[in-house]
Amino acid sequence: MAVPYKVADIGLAAWGRRTIDIAENEMPGLMYLREKYGPRQILAGANIGVCMSVTIQTAVLVETLVALGARVRLCSSNPMSSQDHAAAALVAAGLPTFAWKGETVEEFKWCINQTINFGKERQMNMIMDDGGELTATTMKNNPNIWEGIRGISEETATGIHRLEKLSRSGELKIPAINVNYSVTKSKFDNLYGCRESLVDGIKRATDIMVAGKVAVVAGFGDVGKGCAQSLRAFGARVIVTEVDPIAALQAAMEGYKVTTMTEAVKEGHIFVTATGCINIIKEEHLLKMKPMAVLCNIGHFDVEVDWKYIKDNCEIEQIKNNCDLCTLPNGNKVVVLGKGRVVNLTCAQGHPSFVMSTSFTNQVLAQIELWTKTFPPGVHLLSRIQDEEVARCHLHKLGISLDTLSLEQAEYINVDRNGPYKPDYYRY
Ligand SMILES: NC(=O)c1ccc[n+]([C@@H]2O[C@H](COP(=O)([O-])OP(=O)(O)OC[C@H]3O[C@@H](n4cnc5c(N)ncnc54)[C@H](O)[C@@H]3O)[C@@H](O)[C@H]2O)c1
Repeated sequence: MAVPYKVADIGLAAWGRRTIDIAENEMPGLMYLREKYGPRQILAGANIGVCMSVTIQTAVLVETLVALGARVRLCSSNPMSSQDHAAAALVAAGLPTFAWKGETVEEFKWCINQTINFGKERQMNMIMDDGGELTATTMKNNPNIWEGIRGISEETATGIHRLEKLSRSGELKIPAINVNYSVTKSKFDNLYGCRESLVDGIKRATDIMVAGKVAVVAGFGDVGKGCAQSLRAFGARVIVTEVDPIAALQAAMEGYKVTTMTEAVKEGHIFVTATGCINIIKEEHLLKMKPMAVLCNIGHFDVEVDWKYIKDNCEIEQIKNNCDLCTLPNGNKVVVLGKGRVVNLTCAQGHPSFVMSTSFTNQVLAQIELWTKTFPPGVHLLSRIQDEEVARCHLHKLGISLDTLSLEQAEYINVDRNGPYKPDYYRY
């Protein structure tokens, strides 16, 4: 039977496949899971709706799910973040994929609906989400399918906020696993991933010299920490804005200046929002910025920079794809990247494969847990021992050997010789 799909250009499939082959070599965690669970077909019977940025790394992820026995349908969690060669390669491999870079909002919703609809003979029974859109759409518009969902694995902070809200209001009647809070996800992808891909996005879009500039990072969570580190490494003078006193103190003790956005706009040449919150840079800030300040967002949704205000009130001249020169009503000009959408995916290629392997190994483990075990409704975490397993299966690729605890040492620090090595409350 023909594979249902909608992608930009199926002719890009061969290029996508070559790139996937290279990525597999950089994704040892997913390869390890294929070897460990493939022969058992541990996900047989699982019909997984996947809503993630359709990148080359996601292609390796969904092909791992298939290698473990699952059926998959796939759409993008962001209208701008698809890699068209990845989408084409997946279709050529027989995977129903509905994603292209530059979807309109309507098309984005259409793609989600295509993902939910597994056809007459079977029904979606698992969700893998990144930001909560597939979850929300299924719950709201497809109550029959929602009832049959066995579990949800959620990738990112923004999606977790939404799940926690549902859980608190008693609406989350099924179990979900918060993949973001695995140490090997948020302390790696959010931090080291953004550390590499933020400046990649800014530079591809603007070719701007970062050294010597004042860069303002809004939010000093894991993503903000990675962004601030990389901007500083390029020679920028970094200012952080925060609402959480602990994060603000951390930023100060890392040597960053910490102040309010109202103050920071007077100094900044480059602005990066990384809060997962709304309305971080709005009219009052835009009007006071230095001429030609560069603005971008690396948070999940396009709600941090007020693009609507810009669209409705500014003269916009496209310099190139995802890079707009915006003239404000007071004559001030600013450069906005990706129309306020996640900059590392709209203006660059997202995170490198290796760090996505740590994230996605957690995703696959979460799907296996939810599919093979029974959890009560609510939001759960993978165990610390699984977190350690994710890290462990990435070590050999880097040529890293571990010391092992002697019995005497293990007893002295009161842990099992084989892990977990830290209590659940330990903060890495
Ligand atoms: N682009 C990517 O590749 C990528 C990767 C991972 C996560 N994300 C997204 O990035 C965002 C941040 O993720 P995170 O893991 O760092 O979350 P986090 O919760 O660890 O950090 C967010 C920080 O922003 C601060 N904050 C909230 N509102 C603020 C405000 N109004 N002003 C200043 N600071 C504020 C919070 O106090 C917190 O310290 C989320 O939307 C997440 O989904 C993006």
